[in-house]
Amino acid sequence: MRLATAITEPGQDIEAVDAALTYLVDTGEKPATYLFKPGDDPMRSTGAFEAYDVSIRNGRPVADRFDLDREGFVFGRHETKVDDFFDEAELRAVYDAEIERLVMDASGARRVVVFDQTIRVEDEGKRQEKSVREPVPIVHNDYTESSARQRVRDFLPDEADDVISRRFAIIQVWRPIGAPVKTKPLAICDAQSVRPENLVASDLVYKDRLGETMRVSFSPEHRWYYFPDMARDEAMVFKVYDSADDGRARFTAHTAFDDPTAPRDAPPRESIESRTFAFF
Ligand code: OGA
Ligand code: FE
Repeated sequence: MRLATAITEPGQDIEAVDAALTYLVDTGEKPATYLFKPGDDPMRSTGAFEAYDVSIRNGRPVADRFDLDREGFVFGRHETKVDDFFDEAELRAVYDAEIERLVMDASGARRVVVFDQTIRVEDEGKRQEKSVREPVPIVHNDYTESSARQRVRDFLPDEADDVISRRFAIIQVWRPIGAPVKTKPLAICDAQSVRPENLVASDLVYKDRLGETMRVSFSPEHRWYYFPDMARDEAMVFKVYDSADDGRARFTAHTAFDDPTAPRDAPPRESIESRTFAFF
């Protein structure tokens, strides 16, 4: 399914940008990232990384062709009634329900449950002040087969056995919360262009729990997209896990990147990403 209307006005003239994306160099050793508190440097990682120059296409002119089960993501206009994204009570009262509806519409899931809201702020001062995270400049996918199931067990312990026995997915929504995004936009890779051997499980070490994400090793086949000048009333919906292993998109690689065409005085990026379980 698709989002109702895709915006195609801004950045129509851009075909693609060339930018460097940071990939894992797969040495055969399992990499790890240490995240003890919000604002921790995501570079506190073990593993070898290397920057590769890639061409990132403007997804706007073809936005209505994307499919959550094929490319792994969709993009479109999505209004929100949230006034202050830094107000956690407002997020719970207003935004959770907006996101659950959006993911239901985009995926056809019968039930959607938000389990995390993460704000990312590029400006270091504001990041410290608000105690939020920074953009992630490493190609990754947020869950693996095992951490996706574990997340359901942790968050919905009473229902986990039952819901895990049927198809479920983890679907995320990414949205700017300030000015239209010019610096550190999110690039997303067509899931059809990523082979399973490019996806490498990586430990995510929190103070109180152990998660697992995926790092990605480079392939020239990867087809990257971004949505220039993405605004507060636009959303990217992408799938980072699907229990169905039948050829549809299951994992979707993504990363923040430095857009070399961004104006020097562009406002620093501010965004929110919502994580949801989608039950089918
Ligand atoms: C995400 C993500 C990184 C960023 O939404 O899952 O990886 O820089 N975001 O916004
Ligand atoms: Fe992510």
